[in-house]
Amino acid sequence: MKRRIGILTSGGDCPGLNAAIRGVARASYALFDAEIIGIRGGYKGLIEGDYQEMTKSQFSNILTVGGTILGTSRTPFREMRMVGEDNIDKVAAMKENYKKMGLDCLVTLGGNGTHKTANLLSQEGLNVIGLPKTIDNDIFGTDFTFGFHTAVETATDVIDRIHTTAASHNRVMVVEIMGNKAGWLTLYAGLAGGADAILIPELPYDINEVAKVIEKRAMDNKNFTIIAVAEGAMDIKESRMKRKEREAKRAEEGTSFVSVRIAKQLTEMLNVDSRTVIPGHILRGGTPCAYDRILSTQFGVHAAQLISNGTYGVTVALHGDRIVHNSLSEVAGVAKPVTPSNYMVKTARSMGISFCDTQDD
Ligand code: F6P
Repeated sequence: MKRRIGILTSGGDCPGLNAAIRGVARASYALFDAEIIGIRGGYKGLIEGDYQEMTKSQFSNILTVGGTILGTSRTPFREMRMVGEDNIDKVAAMKENYKKMGLDCLVTLGGNGTHKTANLLSQEGLNVIGLPKTIDNDIFGTDFTFGFHTAVETATDVIDRIHTTAASHNRVMVVEIMGNKAGWLTLYAGLAGGADAILIPELPYDINEVAKVIEKRAMDNKNFTIIAVAEGAMDIKESRMKRKEREAKRAEEGTSFVSVRIAKQLTEMLNVDSRTVIPGHILRGGTPCAYDRILSTQFGVHAAQLISNGTYGVTVALHGDRIVHNSLSEVAGVAKPVTPSNYMVKTARSMGISFCDTQDD
Protein backbone atom coordinates (compact mmCIF):
# COMPACT_ATOMS: atom_id res chain seq x y z
CA MET A 1 0.00 0.00 0.00
CA LYS A 2 1.38 3.38 -1.00
CA ARG A 3 0.65 6.49 1.07
CA ARG A 4 1.74 10.10 0.52
CA ILE A 5 1.96 11.90 3.84
CA GLY A 6 2.22 15.65 4.29
CA ILE A 7 3.72 16.75 7.58
CA LEU A 8 3.91 20.19 9.18
CA THR A 9 4.76 21.81 12.51
CA SER A 10 2.76 24.86 13.56
CA GLY A 11 2.66 27.34 16.46
CA GLY A 12 5.46 27.85 18.98
CA ASP A 13 8.28 25.33 18.70
CA CYS A 14 9.31 23.01 21.50
CA PRO A 15 11.81 20.23 22.16
CA GLY A 16 10.64 16.89 20.75
CA LEU A 17 9.19 18.11 17.45
CA ASN A 18 11.99 16.52 15.44
CA ALA A 19 11.79 13.33 17.49
CA ALA A 20 8.07 13.14 16.64
CA ILE A 21 8.67 13.86 12.94
CA ARG A 22 11.30 11.09 12.96
CA GLY A 23 8.85 8.76 14.72
CA VAL A 24 6.15 9.29 12.09
CA ALA A 25 8.65 8.85 9.25
CA ARG A 26 10.50 5.80 10.51
CA ALA A 27 7.38 3.91 11.51
CA SER A 28 5.67 4.82 8.23
CA TYR A 29 8.63 3.59 6.16
CA ALA A 30 8.54 0.36 8.16
CA LEU A 31 4.77 -0.16 7.93
CA PHE A 32 3.99 0.73 4.34
CA ASP A 33 5.29 2.25 1.13
CA ALA A 34 5.54 5.82 2.40
CA GLU A 35 6.32 9.04 0.58
CA ILE A 36 6.72 12.01 2.88
CA ILE A 37 6.28 15.63 1.95
CA GLY A 38 7.67 18.20 4.38
CA ILE A 39 5.59 21.37 4.45
CA ARG A 40 7.71 24.36 5.48
CA GLY A 41 6.77 26.95 8.09
CA GLY A 42 3.49 25.49 9.37
CA TYR A 43 0.09 26.21 7.81
CA LYS A 44 1.70 29.18 6.03
CA GLY A 45 3.61 26.66 3.92
CA LEU A 46 0.43 24.73 3.18
CA ILE A 47 -1.33 27.93 2.15
CA GLU A 48 1.56 29.11 -0.02
CA GLY A 49 2.51 25.71 -1.41
CA ASP A 50 5.95 25.73 0.18
CA TYR A 51 6.94 22.08 0.47
CA GLN A 52 9.55 19.52 -0.45
CA GLU A 53 9.64 15.77 -1.03
CA MET A 54 11.69 14.35 1.86
CA THR A 55 14.26 11.59 1.64
CA LYS A 56 14.77 8.96 4.32
CA SER A 57 18.14 10.41 5.27
CA GLN A 58 16.54 13.73 6.23
CA PHE A 59 14.99 11.99 9.21
CA SER A 60 18.35 10.80 10.53
CA ASN A 61 20.29 12.51 13.31
CA ILE A 62 17.36 14.65 14.42
CA LEU A 63 16.20 12.77 17.52
CA THR A 64 18.12 15.00 19.91
CA VAL A 65 17.82 18.26 18.00
CA GLY A 66 15.56 21.00 19.43
CA GLY A 67 13.27 23.17 17.28
CA THR A 68 11.82 21.80 14.06
CA ILE A 69 13.57 20.88 10.81
CA LEU A 70 10.40 21.95 8.97
CA GLY A 71 10.21 25.43 10.50
CA THR A 72 7.06 26.82 12.06
CA SER A 73 4.89 29.92 12.25
CA ARG A 74 1.73 31.15 13.88
CA THR A 75 -1.29 31.50 11.60
CA PRO A 76 -4.10 32.30 14.07
CA PHE A 77 -7.16 30.12 13.69
CA ARG A 78 -9.48 33.14 13.76
CA GLU A 79 -7.79 34.40 10.58
CA MET A 80 -8.11 31.14 8.67
CA ARG A 81 -11.54 32.01 7.30
CA MET A 82 -10.66 35.67 6.71
CA VAL A 83 -9.57 36.84 3.30
CA GLY A 84 -6.89 39.49 3.84
CA GLU A 85 -5.30 42.12 1.61
CA ASP A 86 -3.52 39.38 -0.33
CA ASN A 87 -6.97 38.18 -1.42
CA ILE A 88 -6.09 34.57 -0.63
CA ASP A 89 -8.81 32.21 0.57
CA LYS A 90 -6.58 30.30 3.00
CA VAL A 91 -8.80 27.27 3.46
CA ALA A 92 -9.31 26.86 -0.29
CA ALA A 93 -5.54 27.28 -0.84
CA MET A 94 -4.72 24.60 1.74
CA LYS A 95 -7.19 22.18 0.15
CA GLU A 96 -5.82 22.91 -3.29
CA ASN A 97 -2.20 22.37 -2.24
CA TYR A 98 -3.14 19.14 -0.42
CA LYS A 99 -4.57 17.94 -3.73
CA LYS A 100 -1.62 19.24 -5.76
CA MET A 101 0.79 17.33 -3.50
CA GLY A 102 -1.31 14.22 -4.06
CA LEU A 103 -1.56 13.62 -0.32
CA ASP A 104 -3.38 10.73 1.30
CA CYS A 105 -3.17 12.48 4.65
CA LEU A 106 -1.76 15.42 6.57
CA VAL A 107 -0.02 15.11 9.95
CA THR A 108 -0.02 18.34 11.98
CA LEU A 109 2.20 18.78 15.03
CA GLY A 110 1.02 21.60 17.24
CA GLY A 111 -0.86 23.05 20.16
CA ASN A 112 -4.44 24.26 20.64
CA GLY A 113 -4.50 26.66 17.69
CA THR A 114 -2.97 24.06 15.38
CA HIS A 115 -5.59 21.54 16.46
CA LYS A 116 -8.42 23.94 15.70
CA THR A 117 -7.20 24.38 12.14
CA ALA A 118 -6.56 20.63 11.86
CA ASN A 119 -10.18 20.05 12.83
CA LEU A 120 -11.36 22.63 10.30
CA LEU A 121 -9.40 20.90 7.53
CA SER A 122 -10.76 17.55 8.64
CA GLN A 123 -14.30 18.92 8.44
CA GLU A 124 -13.45 20.21 4.99
CA GLY A 125 -12.81 16.62 3.94
CA LEU A 126 -9.01 16.26 4.32
CA ASN A 127 -7.51 13.26 6.11
CA VAL A 128 -5.83 14.81 9.14
CA ILE A 129 -3.99 13.45 12.18
CA GLY A 130 -2.84 15.72 15.01
CA LEU A 131 0.11 15.28 17.38
CA PRO A 132 -0.06 17.32 20.62
CA LYS A 133 3.02 19.42 21.36
CA THR A 134 3.50 22.38 23.66
CA ILE A 135 5.56 23.33 26.67
CA ASP A 136 2.25 24.54 28.19
CA ASN A 137 0.72 21.02 28.48
CA ASP A 138 -2.72 22.55 28.01
CA ILE A 139 -4.24 20.30 25.35
CA PHE A 140 -7.41 18.57 26.46
CA GLY A 141 -7.59 14.79 26.24
CA THR A 142 -3.92 13.94 26.75
CA ASP A 143 -2.15 13.53 30.10
CA PHE A 144 0.96 15.17 28.67
CA THR A 145 2.06 16.94 25.53
CA PHE A 146 5.60 16.47 24.26
CA GLY A 147 7.95 19.37 25.01
CA PHE A 148 6.46 19.89 28.45
CA HIS A 149 8.83 17.72 30.46
CA THR A 150 11.92 19.24 28.85
CA ALA A 151 10.65 22.71 29.68
CA VAL A 152 9.98 21.55 33.26
CA GLU A 153 13.64 20.44 33.48
CA THR A 154 14.88 23.78 32.15
CA ALA A 155 12.60 25.88 34.37
CA THR A 156 13.55 23.77 37.39
CA ASP A 157 17.22 24.35 36.62
CA VAL A 158 16.56 28.11 36.55
CA ILE A 159 14.90 27.95 39.99
CA ASP A 160 17.73 25.74 41.34
CA ARG A 161 20.35 28.23 40.22
CA ILE A 162 18.41 31.14 41.68
CA HIS A 163 18.36 29.53 45.13
CA THR A 164 22.02 30.04 45.90
CA THR A 165 22.21 33.64 44.77
CA ALA A 166 18.92 34.42 46.58
CA ALA A 167 20.31 32.97 49.81
CA SER A 168 23.68 34.72 49.42
CA HIS A 169 22.05 38.13 49.00
CA ASN A 170 18.98 37.78 51.26
CA ARG A 171 16.75 38.48 48.30
CA VAL A 172 13.25 37.83 47.07
CA MET A 173 13.57 36.34 43.60
CA VAL A 174 10.57 36.34 41.30
CA VAL A 175 11.01 33.81 38.49
CA GLU A 176 8.61 34.27 35.57
CA ILE A 177 7.88 31.11 33.65
CA MET A 178 6.12 30.83 30.26
CA GLY A 179 2.44 29.97 30.23
CA ASN A 180 0.01 32.65 29.30
CA LYS A 181 -3.22 30.80 29.94
CA ALA A 182 -2.06 27.64 31.71
CA GLY A 183 0.07 27.27 34.83
CA TRP A 184 1.19 23.64 34.40
CA LEU A 185 4.82 24.49 33.69
CA THR A 186 5.09 26.86 36.66
CA LEU A 187 3.31 24.35 38.91
CA TYR A 188 5.63 21.44 38.02
CA ALA A 189 8.85 23.49 38.01
CA GLY A 190 7.81 25.31 41.18
CA LEU A 191 7.27 22.04 42.99
CA ALA A 192 10.44 20.45 41.58
CA GLY A 193 12.52 23.54 42.36
CA GLY A 194 11.14 24.07 45.85
CA ALA A 195 9.58 27.48 45.23
CA ASP A 196 7.95 29.10 48.27
CA ALA A 197 5.01 30.47 46.30
CA ILE A 198 3.52 29.43 42.96
CA LEU A 199 1.32 31.93 41.14
CA ILE A 200 -0.66 30.69 38.13
CA PRO A 201 -3.35 32.16 35.86
CA GLU A 202 -5.99 29.67 37.01
CA LEU A 203 -5.69 30.69 40.69
CA PRO A 204 -5.63 34.50 40.90
CA TYR A 205 -3.34 35.74 43.68
CA ASP A 206 -3.59 38.34 46.40
CA ILE A 207 -0.36 40.38 46.70
CA ASN A 208 -0.93 40.61 50.48
CA GLU A 209 -0.73 36.83 50.63
CA VAL A 210 2.54 36.92 48.68
CA ALA A 211 3.89 39.42 51.22
CA LYS A 212 2.77 37.11 54.04
CA VAL A 213 4.86 34.26 52.60
CA ILE A 214 7.97 36.43 52.80
CA GLU A 215 7.16 37.66 56.31
CA LYS A 216 6.49 34.15 57.56
CA ARG A 217 9.78 32.93 56.12
CA ALA A 218 11.61 35.85 57.78
CA MET A 219 10.02 34.88 61.09
CA ASP A 220 11.34 31.33 60.55
CA ASN A 221 14.82 32.83 60.00
CA LYS A 222 14.74 32.11 56.28
CA ASN A 223 16.42 35.04 54.63
CA PHE A 224 15.25 34.57 51.07
CA THR A 225 12.12 33.69 49.13
CA ILE A 226 11.60 32.20 45.68
CA ILE A 227 8.36 33.01 43.88
CA ALA A 228 7.55 31.07 40.70
CA VAL A 229 5.04 33.01 38.67
CA ALA A 230 3.44 32.07 35.36
CA GLU A 231 3.61 34.66 32.59
CA GLY A 232 -0.20 34.94 32.55
CA ALA A 233 -0.79 35.06 36.32
CA MET A 234 -3.02 37.86 37.56
CA ASP A 235 -4.14 39.20 40.87
CA ILE A 236 -7.73 38.83 42.03
CA LYS A 237 -8.68 42.36 40.94
CA GLU A 238 -7.17 41.89 37.46
CA SER A 239 -8.92 38.55 37.08
CA ARG A 240 -12.28 40.35 37.31
CA MET A 241 -11.35 42.80 34.54
CA LYS A 242 -11.96 42.47 30.83
CA ARG A 243 -8.76 41.81 28.83
CA LYS A 244 -8.59 45.36 27.37
CA GLU A 245 -9.09 46.93 30.80
CA ARG A 246 -6.35 44.71 32.23
CA GLU A 247 -3.95 45.66 29.45
CA ALA A 248 -4.64 49.36 29.99
CA LYS A 249 -3.94 48.98 33.74
CA ARG A 250 -0.65 47.24 32.99
CA ALA A 251 0.38 49.86 30.44
CA GLU A 252 -0.24 52.48 33.11
CA GLU A 253 1.93 50.52 35.53
CA GLY A 254 4.68 50.59 32.91
CA THR A 255 5.19 46.89 32.28
CA SER A 256 3.42 43.85 30.93
CA PHE A 257 5.74 41.49 32.88
CA VAL A 258 3.98 40.11 35.91
CA SER A 259 7.28 39.36 37.67
CA VAL A 260 8.35 42.99 37.40
CA ARG A 261 5.02 44.21 38.83
CA ILE A 262 5.19 41.76 41.73
CA ALA A 263 8.83 42.55 42.60
CA LYS A 264 8.07 46.28 42.59
CA GLN A 265 5.00 45.87 44.78
CA LEU A 266 6.87 43.69 47.28
CA THR A 267 9.74 46.16 47.54
CA GLU A 268 7.25 48.95 48.19
CA MET A 269 5.27 46.93 50.74
CA LEU A 270 8.10 45.26 52.67
CA ASN A 271 11.22 47.17 51.69
CA VAL A 272 12.83 43.89 50.62
CA ASP A 273 15.57 43.55 48.03
CA SER A 274 13.94 41.79 45.09
CA ARG A 275 14.98 40.73 41.59
CA THR A 276 13.18 39.23 38.61
CA VAL A 277 14.34 36.45 36.32
CA ILE A 278 12.61 35.81 33.00
CA PRO A 279 14.05 32.83 31.09
CA GLY A 280 11.43 33.33 28.33
CA HIS A 281 12.08 31.41 25.12
CA ILE A 282 15.03 29.59 26.66
CA LEU A 283 12.29 27.32 28.03
CA ARG A 284 11.43 26.28 24.48
CA GLY A 285 14.99 25.51 23.44
CA GLY A 286 17.52 22.75 23.75
CA THR A 287 17.60 19.02 23.30
CA PRO A 288 14.49 17.07 24.38
CA CYS A 289 14.82 15.17 27.64
CA ALA A 290 14.56 11.37 27.56
CA TYR A 291 10.87 11.46 28.56
CA ASP A 292 9.99 13.75 25.65
CA ARG A 293 12.08 11.75 23.17
CA ILE A 294 10.14 8.65 24.16
CA LEU A 295 6.72 10.34 24.17
CA SER A 296 7.36 12.02 20.80
CA THR A 297 8.49 8.71 19.33
CA GLN A 298 5.44 6.89 20.72
CA PHE A 299 3.12 9.57 19.34
CA GLY A 300 4.86 9.39 15.95
CA VAL A 301 4.61 5.61 15.80
CA HIS A 302 0.93 5.74 16.75
CA ALA A 303 0.29 8.28 13.98
CA ALA A 304 1.93 5.94 11.45
CA GLN A 305 -0.28 3.09 12.66
CA LEU A 306 -3.35 5.29 12.23
CA ILE A 307 -2.27 6.10 8.66
CA SER A 308 -1.73 2.41 8.00
CA ASN A 309 -5.30 1.70 9.21
CA GLY A 310 -6.78 4.70 7.41
CA THR A 311 -8.00 6.30 10.67
CA TYR A 312 -8.23 10.07 10.31
CA GLY A 313 -9.86 13.09 11.97
CA VAL A 314 -8.09 12.27 15.23
CA THR A 315 -5.28 13.47 17.45
CA VAL A 316 -2.87 11.24 19.32
CA ALA A 317 -2.89 11.28 23.13
CA LEU A 318 -1.41 9.76 26.27
CA HIS A 319 -3.80 8.09 28.72
CA GLY A 320 -1.93 6.68 31.67
CA ASP A 321 0.68 4.43 30.07
CA ARG A 322 -1.23 3.94 26.81
CA ILE A 323 -1.03 5.87 23.56
CA VAL A 324 -4.54 6.43 22.23
CA HIS A 325 -6.30 8.88 19.93
CA ASN A 326 -9.20 11.30 20.38
CA SER A 327 -11.56 12.68 17.81
CA LEU A 328 -10.32 16.09 16.61
CA SER A 329 -13.86 17.46 16.73
CA GLU A 330 -14.11 16.60 20.43
CA VAL A 331 -10.81 18.03 21.65
CA ALA A 332 -9.86 20.82 19.24
CA GLY A 333 -10.09 24.16 20.97
CA VAL A 334 -10.86 22.67 24.39
CA ALA A 335 -8.37 23.96 26.95
CA LYS A 336 -6.95 21.98 29.87
CA PRO A 337 -6.45 24.41 32.75
CA VAL A 338 -4.99 23.57 36.15
CA THR A 339 -7.95 23.00 38.48
CA PRO A 340 -7.89 23.78 42.21
CA SER A 341 -8.52 20.10 42.96
CA ASN A 342 -5.63 18.85 40.80
CA TYR A 343 -3.38 16.44 42.70
CA MET A 344 -0.30 18.56 41.93
CA VAL A 345 -1.95 21.62 43.47
CA LYS A 346 -2.89 19.56 46.51
CA THR A 347 0.64 18.15 46.79
CA ALA A 348 2.12 21.63 46.66
CA ARG A 349 -0.31 22.94 49.31
CA SER A 350 0.55 19.95 51.51
CA MET A 351 4.20 20.95 51.21
CA GLY A 352 3.39 24.42 52.51
CA ILE A 353 3.82 26.05 49.12
CA SER A 354 1.44 28.97 48.86
CA PHE A 355 -0.64 29.82 45.79
CA CYS A 356 -1.49 33.11 47.54
CA ASP A 357 -5.09 32.67 46.44
CA THR A 358 -8.36 32.69 48.32
CA GLN A 359 -8.00 29.02 49.23
CA ASP A 360 -4.74 29.46 51.10
CA ASP A 361 -4.90 29.43 54.89
O1 F6P B 1 2.53 28.12 23.69
C1 F6P B 1 3.86 28.09 24.04
C2 F6P B 1 4.33 29.45 24.48
O2 F6P B 1 5.71 29.35 24.73
C3 F6P B 1 3.59 30.06 25.67
O3 F6P B 1 4.01 29.54 26.89
C4 F6P B 1 3.90 31.52 25.50
O4 F6P B 1 2.93 32.31 26.12
C5 F6P B 1 3.88 31.69 24.01
O5 F6P B 1 4.16 30.42 23.46
C6 F6P B 1 4.88 32.68 23.47
O6 F6P B 1 4.68 32.82 22.11
P1 F6P B 1 5.70 33.51 21.08
O7 F6P B 1 6.81 32.53 20.82
O8 F6P B 1 4.88 33.72 19.87
O9 F6P B 1 6.20 34.74 21.73
